Amino acid sequence: MEHQNLDDLRSSLLGQVADAADLEALEQARVRILGKKGQVTQLMKTLGGLTPEERKERGQAYNRIKDAVAEAIEARRQDLADADLEQRLAAERIDVSLPARPDRVGHVHPISRTVEELVAIFGEMGFGVAEGPHVEDDFHNFTALNIPEEHPARQEQDTFYLPPQEESGAPMVLRTHTSPVQIRTMQSVAPPIRIIVPGRTFRSDSDATHSPMFHQVEGLVVDETTHMGHLKGTLIEFCRAFFDIEDLPVRFRPSYFPFTEPSAEVDIGCTRADGQLKIGHGDDWLEILGCGMVHPKVLENCGIDSRKYQGFAFGMGIERVAMLKYGIPDLRTFYDSDLRWLKHYGFLPLETPSLVRGI
Ligand code: DAH
Repeated sequence: MEHQNLDDLRSSLLGQVADAADLEALEQARVRILGKKGQVTQLMKTLGGLTPEERKERGQAYNRIKDAVAEAIEARRQDLADADLEQRLAAERIDVSLPARPDRVGHVHPISRTVEELVAIFGEMGFGVAEGPHVEDDFHNFTALNIPEEHPARQEQDTFYLPPQEESGAPMVLRTHTSPVQIRTMQSVAPPIRIIVPGRTFRSDSDATHSPMFHQVEGLVVDETTHMGHLKGTLIEFCRAFFDIEDLPVRFRPSYFPFTEPSAEVDIGCTRADGQLKIGHGDDWLEILGCGMVHPKVLENCGIDSRKYQGFAFGMGIERVAMLKYGIPDLRTFYDSDLRWLKHYGFLPLETPSLVRGI
């Protein structure tokens, strides 16, 4: 090939590289020129038929073209990649100084919000979160919790019964409280235990203050030295953090639950004037939760040595505490899926509760 021709070839090949509009076209050009059957490769193959003299000269000339093309391809690849990135950065540009548009994201339901608050408060105290099934067997929902067959608590709870399980023939139930998760936890992990269990519960009851589906949170602590003082300290601290009133009066009133001994109900201070309920100091009390020291029989039912371990437990209605805290007057509105209600009582998704920033 003559000198002139080689120059033409060189500029034609470099032209092909320069013309490649994107990475794919560039790759095609590379295969066309330098690939196994590419133009330059073919040219190299013709060297065999030349005299040694010519071969040396031509070979060097071809190699120079080959190197020049390879270099041009690399440079073009870099340019295209840079341009690609530029374009993507421009397309994906976000103005971080723009305000969020919470209206478009929707609102967090007060139940979810309250659960987040409970998790934040108890999480800070070292509690983990546990969950359990909504469909329970009789043992976990009742028997293991020291509520035997003939116990009146079974009638009081307006249980939804489901068809029996095939193997055992025992009736299944929709759990009437979150307490069965106490049992499941004690059966599956060794003490020390420190958990809360937020979740759905079900009772066949429906009026202005009862819904067939509602939410509870259960708490359970089991350790060798756990005592009533820990129960009181934990729950007083919780009430004050949750209602965000530092000196909120909290009172423990003796009560009865089959699964705790002794048992208590917790009241917080409030005033009721002109049909208005106000939480805080005042001359009145408002019940908000049940609690007690875990009954030794319950520990034994879960295979925990009650001479070595003791524990406390508590349970409360999430709707109830949410209504009290946020002044929501009617329980049924929680489940109406009314967007206007949600906009009014709901929370902005970016404002997650934390003890540091305030609950
Ligand atoms: N399970 C009880 C209920 O549904 C609430 C409760 C009371 C749970 C006392 C507890 C407790 O763990 O100690 O009414």
